Amino acid sequence: MKKAVKITDGIYRLGANIENGDLFEGMWPIPDGVSLNCYIVRGEKTALIDLVEDWDSAPSDIEDQLASIPVESSDLDYLVLNHIEPDHTGWLEDFIKKAPQVQLVTNKKGAALIESFYGITENVKIIDSGDSISLGNNKELLFHNIPNVHWPETMITFEKESGILFSCDAFGSYGSINDSVFDDEISEKEHNFFDVESLRYYANIVGSFSKFVLRAIEKLGDFDIKIIAPSHGIIWRENPGKIIERYKKFASYMEGPAEPEISVIWGSMYGNTEKVLHSVIKGIRSESVPVHVHHVPDEDVSWALASAWKSRGLVFGMPTYEYKMFPPVASVLSMFNLKHIFNKKVFRFGSFGWSGGAQKDFEAATEKMNWEFIDPVEWKGKADDEIHKLAFERGSELARMIKGQ
Ligand code: FEO
Repeated sequence: MKKAVKITDGIYRLGANIENGDLFEGMWPIPDGVSLNCYIVRGEKTALIDLVEDWDSAPSDIEDQLASIPVESSDLDYLVLNHIEPDHTGWLEDFIKKAPQVQLVTNKKGAALIESFYGITENVKIIDSGDSISLGNNKELLFHNIPNVHWPETMITFEKESGILFSCDAFGSYGSINDSVFDDEISEKEHNFFDVESLRYYANIVGSFSKFVLRAIEKLGDFDIKIIAPSHGIIWRENPGKIIERYKKFASYMEGPAEPEISVIWGSMYGNTEKVLHSVIKGIRSESVPVHVHHVPDEDVSWALASAWKSRGLVFGMPTYEYKMFPPVASVLSMFNLKHIFNKKVFRFGSFGWSGGAQKDFEAATEKMNWEFIDPVEWKGKADDEIHKLAFERGSELARMIKGQ
């Protein structure tokens, strides 16, 4: 049986890993899983902070860990819902049948969402920024709204005595958590893993709301935070400042400039565009600029999003397809637009058969993304030596541009 992990006196972490191969939000691959974390804060009264979805074995994992403390469902006075997205509330209807006495704590927008998702209106305590609940025994929960990190109702809960910030999606990451739940317990290799997976999580889930992330981080400066306990990912006990700084940096990439790197997204029908891709990459590497290459449709857009989010430069390699962009690359572009991959330096290349059209379609699709373009390279059929030379030059030109930013 999995046991709850004690964070400090009266405060425990309960977690479940989703590892059944499902997609997160029904669309994002999580080959290394994702954790759903909840927390118990026990004074004279007991609060559970955040819940899980009825997904994989999450409910029974949480029940086992509650029993290990031990806390019975009937012992719970409050269930604080920082965020109503179903990964944190999907089990709610069944859970409150086991704990009918529990008072749900959320803000006004959260209460409306609980009603629309679950039809629940009873036993809801509505709080607002600055409100607090004393649990007795020096345990006090203070609430603050952080709208749009990730949904409009999202809030954080801060336990005053311990300085623990229960941040829900903020400061979260993909990746399952096993026996080591704290930042000071995991190896350098695991830290590197969470560096990568927190960026992918950020770009996939939170990136569009970066202005709100920066606003929330500024506000959190008012709290004496000693530990950050998110609802996905590890707990930051030794160095909470590290994940705050990391999120600040991720958020800053939206306005740019991001890192001096280039992400290449390419697709090819019969290899004519692919052959020129190699010349473009050689051009970029001739300037010693790191390059990340993503082939679609083989690879899911989740990784290209993460890579593009942190890159100053983007390259799109795609042929014309029926007078338009090659659809797999067009689909990536559409996601980039939705997820606010803005303020980039960009180069596009690609072949066509009897007629062009991809470039015109590309320019129309990217009109509102505040991208700065260098001249594209297009050719009919097979590329000759001149095209390869031009592609190399454009690759090196883009690399020089982003180095000079
Ligand atoms: Fe982890 Fe926005 O839910």
